[in-house]
Amino acid sequence: MEGVRVGEIRYHDFRNLAVVELNAGPGVNLIVGPNAQGKTNLLEGLHLLSTGRLLRGSREAQAVRHDQPRAAVEAALQPHGTTVRVNIEPGVRKRALINGLGLPRAADLIGRLPSVSFSSQDLAVVSGEPADRRHLLDTELSQVYPAYLNHFSVYKRALEQRNALLRRAQESHVEDEAFEVWEEQLAHHGAAMRVQRQEWVDGLADLATERHAALGDGEVLSVSYRAADQGELSQSLASNRGHDIHRGSTSVGPHRDDLDIQVAGAEARHFGSQGQQRTAVVAIKLAVLALAERAFGFPPMLLLDDIFSDLDDRRRSHLMDVAFEAGGQVFVTCTEAEQAGAKLLGSAKIFRVKCGRLEEK
Ligand SMILES: Nc1ncnc2c1ncn2[C@@H]1O[C@H](COP(=O)(O)OP(=O)(O)OP(=O)(O)O)[C@@H](O)[C@H]1O
Ligand SMILES: [Mg+2]
Repeated sequence: MEGVRVGEIRYHDFRNLAVVELNAGPGVNLIVGPNAQGKTNLLEGLHLLSTGRLLRGSREAQAVRHDQPRAAVEAALQPHGTTVRVNIEPGVRKRALINGLGLPRAADLIGRLPSVSFSSQDLAVVSGEPADRRHLLDTELSQVYPAYLNHFSVYKRALEQRNALLRRAQESHVEDEAFEVWEEQLAHHGAAMRVQRQEWVDGLADLATERHAALGDGEVLSVSYRAADQGELSQSLASNRGHDIHRGSTSVGPHRDDLDIQVAGAEARHFGSQGQQRTAVVAIKLAVLALAERAFGFPPMLLLDDIFSDLDDRRRSHLMDVAFEAGGQVFVTCTEAEQAGAKLLGSAKIFRVKCGRLEEK
């Protein structure tokens, strides 16, 4: 399959970017500037076009430039010149458009401009809560398996409904049939999610172990999928109903699953040093990149935000080498161009950001 990349990107009142045009190169694009100038915002705009979503933890209204009514990010995708655009207007549903035609949901953008992001926030994949690891699974799987997003959305809705029923059942009697409607959906879509997650993690695990070995600490990284419960999901849901009414939430299903990440035989989250955790995250992210590349048949756009402040020279240069050798489009932010290393600097297109404005060098 032919690679997709962004050409010209336009930002309009998106965060601190009033009117910005960035004409991206096909290879490495280096975005340089002091703190708080708009580097992350530029990458977030690309993430928005790729996934239909802002970076984790942001509300839509926050993405609109202060005192402005609406924000937009738009890009021309190469090689065919397709235009993708996302409009954000507080109080109105976020809207995604392809060549000017609205899509039913912003999430329908997923898969058109595949991307893999890496920032210091990703350390949470190893050191954070199970929800951080499920977030990785859900976002990456939605990208590579179109059906996953559907299973995931229906599952999420059914889970909210069952949880609402559980709480109602604490006050008054609820018929079994009312539960069964949602439990059937949970069982069907939940089982499908688990199959796809398991398959994806199996592929990821080998690659992550390989990438980790290449980073050269002499330790072994292992990654596996850990289901919170075994057996037929519909049966577990029915038999846990009483218990779940008591706790007011659903205790079985893929929304409770986790990734087990071990370095040198010990769970990295609890026992890993910061260095071990970082190496594990880099290895996992490189494996995610390789899996996505395999799924799409071309390297996805790589968004590397501020990775230099968190990684030592060795991990950083390994990451940059792999990113560079993948041969896809890469966006890297840093405060000093020199941080990127001579190899990248030699071939990168360099943009300098200051107060939400851009100068190409
Ligand atoms: N909705 C908004 N309207 C106006 N400005 C905003 C909005 N949202 C964020 N900003 C501002 O954008 C500025 C740049 O943010 P950004 O995170 O892109 O900086 P950065 O260049 O990545 O800095 P750092 O090197 O510290 O990561 C910040 O000062 C922030 O306050
Ligand atoms: Mg930043």
